[in-house]
Amino acid sequence: MSEHDRRPLVAGNWKMNGLQQDGLALARAVANEMPKPGPEILICPPATLVNAIAQCVEGSSVLVGGQDCHPATSGAHTGDISAEMLVDAGATHVILGHSERRQDHGETSPDIRAKLTAAHDAGLVAIVCIGETLAERDAGQTLDILSAQLEASLTPAGDHRVTAGNTVIAYEPIWAIGTGRTPSLDDVGVAHAHIRSFLATLIAAEAGGMRLLYGGSVKPGNAEELLAIADVDGALVGGASLQAEDFCAIAAAAHS
Ligand code: 13P
Repeated sequence: MSEHDRRPLVAGNWKMNGLQQDGLALARAVANEMPKPGPEILICPPATLVNAIAQCVEGSSVLVGGQDCHPATSGAHTGDISAEMLVDAGATHVILGHSERRQDHGETSPDIRAKLTAAHDAGLVAIVCIGETLAERDAGQTLDILSAQLEASLTPAGDHRVTAGNTVIAYEPIWAIGTGRTPSLDDVGVAHAHIRSFLATLIAAEAGGMRLLYGGSVKPGNAEELLAIADVDGALVGGASLQAEDFCAIAAAAHS
């Protein structure tokens, strides 16, 4: 995949939100109201809704993903879900290493790397989340943190290959998630350019075609300017993905 093939991706991370009735209605509205032609659209509902939503949006251009998976394929892991189970439920993608999982469940970058291998083995496209805390940003460590997270999460084990086709990176400054605050457009541009050039040291030619999403307080009002930044190939949207109108407006701002 070359940089010319980087079709924008707008993904909605519903987090722990959505019961059957409202979740299905929201997914249906997204499928019906999404601008066409447009970016690739992904909905990541809670695990309980993956299968129902995959069935509900079947035949539309909307794809469905999980929010996490376990590194093992099966076994004694109470409460966990394997990548294969997500595929079985109709998912094509999985979010890995979201800062809320790092925070709530103590996930580390090496954990993400193990999950990444499992996701790829099952045939899922993984969206690997990275991002700095406010303290790290204030200390001027943002780019170093991003490099360290990328290196520890992506460095392939054995013959496992990370490619532009099987992996997407989401840059989500932790302090921008759910706060209504975003970095300046310049800062987002610097971070994304850094991610792209650091990726080149890890995965060589695949770096040019890999999609880099921005996440953290993306709203209809700021989507156009964020998505216009070079090396921003889409968005990972939290709160605003819970309203079909807002999510579709963000998608409409992503030009191919
Ligand atoms: P918000 O869009 O609510 O800030 O959430 C971003 C996010 O964490 C997406 O994964």
